[in-house]
Amino acid sequence: MAQVCILGGGFIGRFYADSLHGQRGRDRVSVVYARREETAIRFASDYAVPHYFTDMEEAIKSSATEVVVIALPNNLHETAVDLCVKHKKAVLCTKPLGRNAEEALRMTKACEEAGIFAGYLEDLCYTPKFMKSLTSVKNGAIGRILWAKSRETHPGPHSDWFWDIDKAGGGAVLDLGCHCIEIARNFIGKDVKPVEVMCWADTQVKPIDAEDHAIGLVKYENGAIGQFEVSWTFRGGMDLRDEVMGTEGTIWINSFLRTGFEMFTSGAGEGGYVAEKAESSSGWQFPVGDEAHELGYTNMFTDMFNALEQGKEPNETFYDGYVVNAIIDAAYKSAKTKLWEPVQLPDWRGQVGLEKPSVYNEYDVDHWFIKDEILPNGDKKVILKKKATGEIIELETWK
Ligand SMILES: NC(=O)c1ccc[n+]([C@@H]2O[C@H](COP(=O)([O-])OP(=O)(O)OC[C@H]3O[C@@H](n4cnc5c(N)ncnc54)[C@H](O)[C@@H]3O)[C@@H](O)[C@H]2O)c1
Repeated sequence: MAQVCILGGGFIGRFYADSLHGQRGRDRVSVVYARREETAIRFASDYAVPHYFTDMEEAIKSSATEVVVIALPNNLHETAVDLCVKHKKAVLCTKPLGRNAEEALRMTKACEEAGIFAGYLEDLCYTPKFMKSLTSVKNGAIGRILWAKSRETHPGPHSDWFWDIDKAGGGAVLDLGCHCIEIARNFIGKDVKPVEVMCWADTQVKPIDAEDHAIGLVKYENGAIGQFEVSWTFRGGMDLRDEVMGTEGTIWINSFLRTGFEMFTSGAGEGGYVAEKAESSSGWQFPVGDEAHELGYTNMFTDMFNALEQGKEPNETFYDGYVVNAIIDAAYKSAKTKLWEPVQLPDWRGQVGLEKPSVYNEYDVDHWFIKDEILPNGDKKVILKKKATGEIIELETWK
């Protein structure tokens, strides 16, 4: 059982507490910190938390705190991590780890040097659908991964600080792209180096200094490509979808809208909350059965606390958060320069010197294989390339 201190009594702090206390969970929130006393008191009362603080350091150093969960605005993540280091408390930090790679690397190294456990709370890499598809990818079910696309779009975040570029550190790319980038990294292989990024980002709707819409491509050293599509201007709810293309197969995941639960209501009844970022409570609705579980929070905390107890690394580490931040930094640079920008990773711990695999598969001693086909009338064809001349030919077998 872990005694958890949640820093932040807002949106994600509540999701975390719901996940930790949900069902018959062993782990308990024993301490909460919030900036305002009324938020702390309300949170403590809603989740039966015995200790609340409005001073962050007091909450962290409390004897009732074993593991600190950072659920604070992005500009406070590093301060909170530094206090965990100072008081030698295990720390789990929400996404994005830093506002940029420099902050993220400092946090990663500070925890490593202090020898404290540090986990990166990237919930979308723990959804039931994601975990099952990653197992299939790792088992080779869809072959070599060529392309991994992830999309998170919704009508925009729920608190003032997200919209302030200094506090948040960026816009939709940092807030939502961090999920998409880490999803693609998992499918492509976390030890495969991301090398360069091309990104379009613009502010199309909201009167803010950051981008509210962006699309990016991340090239990996083994020739695979990651793609992220993010928006704070999307209408119709929260759209979370992944697509993975491999040499032997394809995976499509829809994690939120249209997951097989559809309901129509005229708007009668009490209405209210349907699902995160749902825009309406009448008409066709797309509720989500067990939201905390479908969004990965329960599997995420299970992995974190198991790893902590067993002295292992969790699936998502601060180092992963750092790599994600480095990719995002390159994306922001590319959006300005309109060029492919290199991912700056002075601390790279994965494979080096990978190359794109050959596209040549042998058909016979004289030919490379391109494709076979069965036509509507049952005839068969094989399309080949002659090794000697490069000529493309087809062999036909009539039915
Ligand atoms: N899927 C996810 O993993 C996910 C989803 C939402 C948010 N987040 C992350 O969680 C963190 C918090 O986001 P949130 O949505 O809970 O925000 P929020 O605004 O709903 O809550 C933030 C809380 O932090 C506390 N706080 C302390 N000092 C503060 C200060 N100076 N300014 C503002 N708040 C202060 C307050 O208790 C506040 O309620 C962010 O890093 C965000 O990116 C992650």
